Amino acid sequence: MLDISELTVRYGKLTALEKTDIRVDEGEAVFVVGPNGAGKSTLLKTVAGLLRPAGGRIAFEGQSIAGGAPERLCRRGLALVPEGRHIFRTLTVEENLLVGMMIRRDRAAVQDDLEQILGLFPILRERFRGVAGNLSGGEQQQLAIARALLQRPRLLMIDEPSLGLAPLVIDQVYASLKELNATGLTLLVVEQSTARVLDLATRVYVLRGGKVVLSDTAEALASGDAMEEAYFGYAGQADA
Ligand SMILES: Nc1ncnc2c1ncn2[C@@H]1O[C@H](COP(=O)(O)OP(=O)(O)OP(=O)(O)O)[C@@H](O)[C@H]1O
Ligand SMILES: [Mg+2]
Repeated sequence: MLDISELTVRYGKLTALEKTDIRVDEGEAVFVVGPNGAGKSTLLKTVAGLLRPAGGRIAFEGQSIAGGAPERLCRRGLALVPEGRHIFRTLTVEENLLVGMMIRRDRAAVQDDLEQILGLFPILRERFRGVAGNLSGGEQQQLAIARALLQRPRLLMIDEPSLGLAPLVIDQVYASLKELNATGLTLLVVEQSTARVLDLATRVYVLRGGKVVLSDTAEALASGDAMEEAYFGYAGQADA
């Protein structure tokens, strides 16, 4: 579904991603984990069309999308929940969700989708007319995901869904993501923490210093310490 090859992205002289290969098949939940500054947000922003790559290819459903306009990519079925959620704090939950519906032309279907999404995140129904700034961190994360779902994406990309959330709240967010993936939604999630990754992932990439240092199935990574070792650097290996 998503095929990224030799992707290179730079900010001026700084190379944030170097010849990165990442693949997401339909129905998967692919995780990219890596420490601060690994290039995780850069990767998702580039796929979403917010950054222009310096080299490499990005194909979505067989068509090249590298450097495409964000709105166009959104209409094609790519949605991004950005790092830090970017909800409108002074607007109500309802108004925030309206933003997600803006690209839709099928008004009737939107109402059905909204009902379904409020079923998945009941707290948003409870707080529907309340100001989004009053939601807790976990509720704001749910709102950001709900808003992206209203775009009816085929691939949902989420930048650090667990960031700043208490463990119990992370459980809730991950449970919703698992439910979404089970209904067939393809996920590409980046996380700094490896703690919950194997609860949901089908495959995992470890990104360090803009390069993929490990990729394997979640099943293979479940036994052993390969993921942690790749994340922190193998014993004796100098940290670049
Ligand atoms: N707008 C920018 N201008 C210049 N450098 C940037 C910019 N955004 C990111 N960088 C640099 O690019 C590298 C990758 O950043 P990126 O935000 O993709 O990392 P990340 O893996 O998302 O990190 P984190 O876990 O802290 O969110 C870092 O060295 C960062 O300092
Ligand atoms: Mg980031």
